[in-house]
Amino acid sequence: MMKSFFALAALAASAYAQTVTIAAPAAGATVTAGQSFVVDVAKPNTISGSEDVSVVIGLGSPAITTGLGRILFAGPYTPTGHPDAPLGTIEFYQNITVTVPTNVAPGEASLRVAHFVLVGADLSPTIDSHNVTINVVGGSA
Ligand SMILES: *[C@@H]1O[C@H](CO)[C@@H](O)[C@H](O)[C@H]1NC(C)=O
Ligand SMILES: *[C@@H]1O[C@H](CO)[C@@H](O)[C@H](O)[C@H]1NC(C)=O
Repeated sequence: MMKSFFALAALAASAYAQTVTIAAPAAGATVTAGQSFVVDVAKPNTISGSEDVSVVIGLGSPAITTGLGRILFAGPYTPTGHPDAPLGTIEFYQNITVTVPTNVAPGEASLRVAHFVLVGADLSPTIDSHNVTINVVGGSA
């Protein structure tokens, strides 16, 4: 009984540690319709075993509570270490350049990232989702 509790707790902790974070853009950042910007998808903790598979990056209305919005990127996630990263930033990341569609509504938008990873010795498939609210300028929709 206790043993399985601790096994579950350990599993939850390791699953948590395998999630990514949107290191950039910062909340409130401004992006321009038709132009590209970098999404820095960082992995704060890489101590325990996990096998990153892919990420999907979407841009949607902040009002939408499910889903990813317009898909800006869907592909492999292969973060690498950047020892030259500034102090206080996460060294382990992948920068993904995406383009803001020209026909998005100007104003607040929700940038969303879904990360697919295989966790633990048994490689359990796991998805974690994240979002940050940014500003779109110049759009028409
Ligand atoms: C967006 O992120 C916030 C804070 O991390 C979270 O509470 C919220 O559920 C997320 N919204 C969506 C639609 O994923
Ligand atoms: C990745 O993107 C971040 C945020 O834009 C930037 O600070 C960093 O220099 C970029 N790293 C590389 C290797 O291009």
